[in-house]
Amino acid sequence: MITKATVDRIMEATDIVEVIGEFVQLKKRGANYVGLSPFANERTPSFTVSPAKGIFKDFSSGLGGSAVTFLMEHEKFNYPEALKWLAKKYGIEVEELNDAPENREEENHRESLLIVTGYAAKFFQHSLLETEAGKSIAGSYFKERGFRDDTIKKFELGYSPDQWEAFTSSALKDGYQQEFLEETGLSVKRDNGTLYDRYRGRVMFPIHSFTGRVIAFGGRTLKSDKSVPKYVNSPESEIYHKSNVLYGLHFAKKAIRDEDNCYLVEGYADVISVHQSGIENVVASSGTSLTIEQIKLIGRLTKNITILYDGDAAGIKASLRGLDLILEEGLNVKVVLFPDGHDPDSYVRLLGSTGFKNYIEQNKKDFILYKTNLLLKEAGNDPIKKADVIRDIVESIAKIPDSIKASVFIRECSGLLQIEERSLNAELNKMRQAKQKKDHQQQQNKQQVEREAAPPVEEDELGLRLTNTQDETQEKEIVRLLVTYGSRIINWDGIANTYIGPFMIAELSDVEFEHPVCKSFIQIYHEEVEKGILPEELYYINHPDKQITDIAISVLLSQYTLSPNWYEMHKISTTDEEKDMKATILDAIFHLKLQKVGKILTNIRNQLKTSIIAEDQDILLSQYIHMKKVEKSITDYLGIVITK
Ligand code: GTP
Ligand code: MN
Repeated sequence: MITKATVDRIMEATDIVEVIGEFVQLKKRGANYVGLSPFANERTPSFTVSPAKGIFKDFSSGLGGSAVTFLMEHEKFNYPEALKWLAKKYGIEVEELNDAPENREEENHRESLLIVTGYAAKFFQHSLLETEAGKSIAGSYFKERGFRDDTIKKFELGYSPDQWEAFTSSALKDGYQQEFLEETGLSVKRDNGTLYDRYRGRVMFPIHSFTGRVIAFGGRTLKSDKSVPKYVNSPESEIYHKSNVLYGLHFAKKAIRDEDNCYLVEGYADVISVHQSGIENVVASSGTSLTIEQIKLIGRLTKNITILYDGDAAGIKASLRGLDLILEEGLNVKVVLFPDGHDPDSYVRLLGSTGFKNYIEQNKKDFILYKTNLLLKEAGNDPIKKADVIRDIVESIAKIPDSIKASVFIRECSGLLQIEERSLNAELNKMRQAKQKKDHQQQQNKQQVEREAAPPVEEDELGLRLTNTQDETQEKEIVRLLVTYGSRIINWDGIANTYIGPFMIAELSDVEFEHPVCKSFIQIYHEEVEKGILPEELYYINHPDKQITDIAISVLLSQYTLSPNWYEMHKISTTDEEKDMKATILDAIFHLKLQKVGKILTNIRNQLKTSIIAEDQDILLSQYIHMKKVEKSITDYLGIVITK
């Protein structure tokens, strides 16, 4: 466990704009920063960061919280991982309690898996560098491939001995649990329940997470025998989701940002060779076609991708489709082909880093133009095939969110395809309209589902619509005031020397909150007040109950993000409400009470209608009269007259 003192130090040092800025492009707007949601697809920025409060809120996905919450959501860290990431960033030493190996089991599941993969990386590394077999077999293989010693160290390359249980038995002996060895895929279970090594006699490429922890492995055979698979990779696990990992990203991220470009290659060896030559902004999709998650990973660091393919045409055609995904994310895609028989690994070794860079500069083509040329060549003189090509290309262009960029491509392709720009534009507009219609329809369907799922609207005799959202608004207003002003001291006529929070709680003791999150919020606030604690903003922001954090954050940020209409509707403005604190607080309390009394009255009226026993009716009637009086006193106070 990380000590409280360390947590405090980390929190103090953390600049949320700086942290989130590593993953999201933020622009200053007023007191806040805004950007495109990294958790949802959106075109207009709704993602808001408040540096003053140290919190963010994503209005698209509803997520919100501190820098720690952000890292947990975005990087899928657990709590200690997120803290350690921040500690590293801000150079804070982490003090931990109970960190002895005996407590290994107590660590949570993910951490256990990571400990196992970390151990395995060390094991394979040791076997490469320190054992006879490793040095002679794997060491000479890497040397032959031109991997330098510092490169081998940096990428933590290793060797798995050519034995059935070398790794497994060492891990078991060192106290690692069978279940974690299996789950990480490092060991495989035999029918009789014993374990054997997945990787035998292979050179090992550890796959690192964005933050640099080993999460999986690729093991390459040293045999040229075609009957064994060239690579054996880790299976999917809780710590390794293939679709959102890029090989080499941890080592490349800084260079990608600095160079504002990312080279994308196919294999482990390509990444390592190109990186070793001094071109460090290089990652691999590891043999699979690029996924949307991987594209987003890159898109956070740069908008420019240069794809380095080896010359085989089948592979290129297959990946063309996937590239539309990149366009859709608003990235600029360039393509570079290598001469037949060469891949980036072999070519960079042939030309050296300068020659390689020059080759890329001279041969890179814009993806759309490249695709147009390739498909055109294939279609030849066949007019039907050519029509398909045109549609295909315009479809790609339609994916580009930036319309100026799109029109530049239309112009260039009109030349290549020998079609008038006007016709291409007409086709483009048709596709855009179809897409808009589809998006709109999806939106409508979503709203329909939401409407159907919403609770029915009650209607009382006055025809006043008592929707649940109205209830919620009033209850949330109380929460907002508690979060924003709860720890301020009251100095009103007649009431002094108390704080707003406890005052409100006492005033509302006869009110039953209905909205579940508001209800538990009030309950927690109440409990804290009883303990003599006055919760402040940070208390909620770091609260373990996510619902509490969420509601606190949405009310805290609502001041900046609610539409002016909202204030109009509620006749408040944030500066006004602070000018007359007493009116603000009492208004909210009494509006809520009025609403609750209204509900009780409706309830009694309904019971009166159905009750047939005279005594019951008497009781109900006297209750009714009593509640009417309560209602009147509240409305008198509020100065509102309800007209029938
Ligand atoms: P070298 O042949 O050593 O240069 O390896 P490479 O990394 O250049 O591999 P290659 O270009 O043949 O393949 C590209 C990527 O596809 C590899 O890095 C692996 O991630 C993946 N891959 C290749 N062969 C296999 C295989 O047999 N099985 C699996 N699962 N993946 C493979
Ligand atoms: Mn290769």
